[in-house]
Amino acid sequence: MHLFLSAPGMERFLGEELLRACASAHLEPIGEGLLVAKGMPEGFRGPVVFARQCLPDATPFPVTSIRGAAETLTTRLIGELPLDGPWRLHIVARYGLVGSDAGAHRCELIREAVVEQLRKRRRSLLRGLSGRRTEAGTPASTSKEETDTSPFAPDESFVQLLLTSPDSGFVSIVPAPGPSGLLGLVWPFQRGEVPVAVDKEAPSRAFAKLVESEARLGLRIAAGETCVDLGASPGSWTYVPAMRGARVTAVDRSPLRDDLMRHPRVGFVQGDAFRFVPETAVDWLLCDVIAAPERSIDLVLDWVRARRCRRFVVTIKFKGDGEYAALDRLKREMPPLAARFHLLHLCANKNEVCVFGEVLREP
Ligand SMILES: C[S@@+](CC[C@H](N)C(=O)[O-])C[C@H]1O[C@@H](n2cnc3c(N)ncnc32)[C@H](O)[C@@H]1O
Repeated sequence: MHLFLSAPGMERFLGEELLRACASAHLEPIGEGLLVAKGMPEGFRGPVVFARQCLPDATPFPVTSIRGAAETLTTRLIGELPLDGPWRLHIVARYGLVGSDAGAHRCELIREAVVEQLRKRRRSLLRGLSGRRTEAGTPASTSKEETDTSPFAPDESFVQLLLTSPDSGFVSIVPAPGPSGLLGLVWPFQRGEVPVAVDKEAPSRAFAKLVESEARLGLRIAAGETCVDLGASPGSWTYVPAMRGARVTAVDRSPLRDDLMRHPRVGFVQGDAFRFVPETAVDWLLCDVIAAPERSIDLVLDWVRARRCRRFVVTIKFKGDGEYAALDRLKREMPPLAARFHLLHLCANKNEVCVFGEVLREP
């Protein structure tokens, strides 16, 4: 049984998408943004566009008390995790409305109790818990740790406990190398949510889509790199790499905000985004054009096939009914071309999804 978390209002799209992948799956909505899927194929890896997070092979988990939950979870960790490897632990709640903080304190108490249990019963496992290793290799204090959001490495295991009410939830334990093979289905972000800080200097909030995609890739556009930004106006995406010291060719029918038009690392090309071809390959293709999904999909496949970019972040319009087939085409045609490929309804997306990844290098 897999448990999927989606954005509020996206449950229907998620359900329809899962049934397209596996018509015999049995789906049961169990709350806002929560869907249980039974009968998914063995080894199902996604991508699932409308799921923010997945708990693979989840099992129901009673939380009669904090101590009881910690003891039960610790017993399972000792039995199921590899002895020496690193692992990450998310203990989160989703009861009530998506976005509410309900249950956060209870989760923190369970986490502290699990750490305490491990300290007594299997100290060696505690050393592998991400974020807890101190310089000397001894377990750190029980205080709240920083969440490691880098992509899963092949030797990492991933444990998720999701409370769906104060006294019940689900647990998923995926031993290494599972999580690294499920990239894009399981995310290192708690509940799959990627918070992006406000930047009042950017022309609009649209930059959050690009920053979230970078965070999910575990990569950042860096100084000295080259980008093409298609459909760039008024310039929030262009703004991100330009401020970091990268060079951007921004293509749009309309000009960018004045300061970006004058920016020394931004070159503006007034014209049709779908006809633009760079003279040499660039590091990043960025594209946030509002167009029919098929056009944006053709565009990104074309750029990737021709290796005009090393990495790409492209918005695809998605309004629902009738547009799944276009996404299915991307799911089929992109994997052989890409070293990494994600297709996701980002936290920062509204009626759109995002395809982002890295192009496969020539053999
Ligand atoms: C959602 S806005 C892009 C916002 C931009 N990424 C930002 O962060 O400021 C879409 C842009 O695509 C441009 N656009 C739409 N069709 C285009 C085309 N065929 N060629 C060039 N630009 C196009 C529009 O002019 C509009 O500025």
